[in-house]
Amino acid sequence: MTRPLVSVRDLRVTLGGRPVLVGVDADLARGKITALIGLNGSGKTTLLRALVREYPSRGDIRFHCGHDHTHPTPEHIGYVPQKLALDARLPLTVRDFLALALSRRPLFFGIPKAVTDKIRKQLTRVGMTDHVDTPVEGLSGGQLQRVLLALALEPQPELLLLDEPAAGIDFKDQQKFYDLIAELNRSTGVTVLLVSHELSMVSRYAHHVLCLRDGAIQCQGTPHEILTPGVLAQTFGTDMQQFLHHHAH
Ligand SMILES: Nc1ncnc2c1ncn2[C@@H]1O[C@H](COP(=O)(O)OP(=O)(O)OP(=O)(O)O)[C@@H](O)[C@H]1O
Ligand SMILES: [Mg+2]
Repeated sequence: MTRPLVSVRDLRVTLGGRPVLVGVDADLARGKITALIGLNGSGKTTLLRALVREYPSRGDIRFHCGHDHTHPTPEHIGYVPQKLALDARLPLTVRDFLALALSRRPLFFGIPKAVTDKIRKQLTRVGMTDHVDTPVEGLSGGQLQRVLLALALEPQPELLLLDEPAAGIDFKDQQKFYDLIAELNRSTGVTVLLVSHELSMVSRYAHHVLCLRDGAIQCQGTPHEILTPGVLAQTFGTDMQQFLHHHAH
């Protein structure tokens, strides 16, 4: 296996008095795409949030990248959340939304040229240059995810965490989104950890698969090893056939 960028050992997270992660052991291979799969509530989002130290955890999260990750900053980790924690009906254009995040100063001072250039560059990377004047509320689900991805890519991260980035997006756009991630992974060598319920996408794009069940890694391996009915049943339980059927469409 490729040398890991991140190794997680015996990671435990308790939320609201309830153990959510109960001893996760996992490696994220450097420069590879790792998919994290598991039932709703199995702890996938919690694991991502523990990696960015948004949740207090016990055990060990080790980054092998030469930087100080005691307090990870976006310089190191890009994060596209499962849900937008802010109101997507924000009466802001995509330009203003990105400018706020990238320049960290009030919009009434105007957007400096360097920031405008950066915004254009980032929107080009995610294929969204036509939408620089679109209000955030006017974006489709897929377009919003691309804008959030643009944000996660500035500055260039070493690790990109994507929490169901293509949920609710139609099959065609989903595939385009995953193509974009694969291309970014190839061209920049960014290590990707991707939560997804779309097993067809996992099979096609992931190099490695981690299966989370009840807050621990149930099994892991290549998509070829993991995406078989027998192994998947260990992760998803007896309703697996229904799940496979649902996701085959
Ligand atoms: N802040 C919190 N306080 C208490 N419990 C929480 C909190 N956040 C998450 N949980 C619980 O932790 C468990 C795991 O949640 P998590 O969001 O990590 O699951 P998930 O695997 O991402 O699920 P999904 O596929 O639905 O996104 C759930 O039972 C959830 O209710
Ligand atoms: Mg989740």
